[in-house]
Amino acid sequence: MSEPIVLGIESTCDETAAAIVQGRTLLSNVVASSMEEHARYGGVIPEIASRAHAEAFVPCVSKALADANMTLADVDAIAVSAGPGLAGCLAVGVSGAKALAWASGKPLYGINHVIGHIAVTQLQFGAFPPDTLALIVSGGHTSLLHVEDMPRKIDVVGTTLDDAAGECFDKVARLLGFPYPGGPHIDRHAQHGDSHAIRVPQGLTQGKAGAAHPYDFSFSGVKTAVARWVESEQAAGREIPVNDVCASLADSVATVLARKAMRGCEQYDSNTLIVGGGFSANSQLRAKLLEYGEKYGVEVRIPQIKLCTDNGAMVAMLGVNLVEVGVAPSAPDFAIDSAMPLTKVSM
Ligand code: KG4
Ligand code: ZN
Repeated sequence: MSEPIVLGIESTCDETAAAIVQGRTLLSNVVASSMEEHARYGGVIPEIASRAHAEAFVPCVSKALADANMTLADVDAIAVSAGPGLAGCLAVGVSGAKALAWASGKPLYGINHVIGHIAVTQLQFGAFPPDTLALIVSGGHTSLLHVEDMPRKIDVVGTTLDDAAGECFDKVARLLGFPYPGGPHIDRHAQHGDSHAIRVPQGLTQGKAGAAHPYDFSFSGVKTAVARWVESEQAAGREIPVNDVCASLADSVATVLARKAMRGCEQYDSNTLIVGGGFSANSQLRAKLLEYGEKYGVEVRIPQIKLCTDNGAMVAMLGVNLVEVGVAPSAPDFAIDSAMPLTKVSM
């Protein structure tokens, strides 16, 4: 099987998605989002998201197969996100995928959604070089990984000690009155602001804490500093320069991520940095990573925007990797794992 064909299914949060990948080629990619149903609550409501998955599952999978001009009989394997994510949401995707696998007799892989976020870069940039570094910036994760041998050996080099970068953006966004998810709003306003207007701390970069945690992140201090500043300006009756607040926050977060990622590349002697996760859609981070990559001689591989946020292509791509190296499919009774660790690539 030189170029395995894998159907990937995603349902960890508020996107139901299905895609077909053959080798490193994306044949179809279908995403249905329940985001608008959550916006008025200021965050994803698991019950609403689970119901939306139950509705969208069959239409998404059918369309992914139809767009690729295939039926289930044409695929070599099925992959589905088994975690991390919202339990009720995962249960819908995993149960649906198990039913498809059982009925069609195809092998099924319960994969790690977060590792899928970096796997997806292969559709644009080809296979991972051995011994490479990866930066994961999703809604719930901000971590540096040492990918020694994709998909067989992955270690965590550093991680956030509190909030993820995406969480930090979402919280500040709420404070500024932007609807959920706030990240893209901060991005847009930051493009028109002065990134030096407000002093925003860069967590774990200086002094003893910085030395003790060279590859770890902390964004709760950043969030608090911005919140305090906004509150004191409001108390003084001054108008909040929203663009400047966003630009200063975005610059601080992007700089810390880029600096630590480059330092990690140096440490692990990697001249490639793989980037993935919803937050890698952030334009300030993309620009900063490319700028630092140029400076340090590191090739930065960031997915195109539509492959940054949750999708089925990332799941299918990781499924292809598992099939290629001969990893055994998941057992028929594999469980969902809402807190699946980053070192576990499949169930
Ligand atoms: O990876 P993802 O789609 O979901 C998880 O698996 O967690 O990431 C979602 C996160 C949210 O925090 C969202 O605000 C953020 O990615 N995000 C952005 C942008 N687009 C999405 N944050 C900043 N700028 C963006 N352009
Ligand atoms: Zn995600």
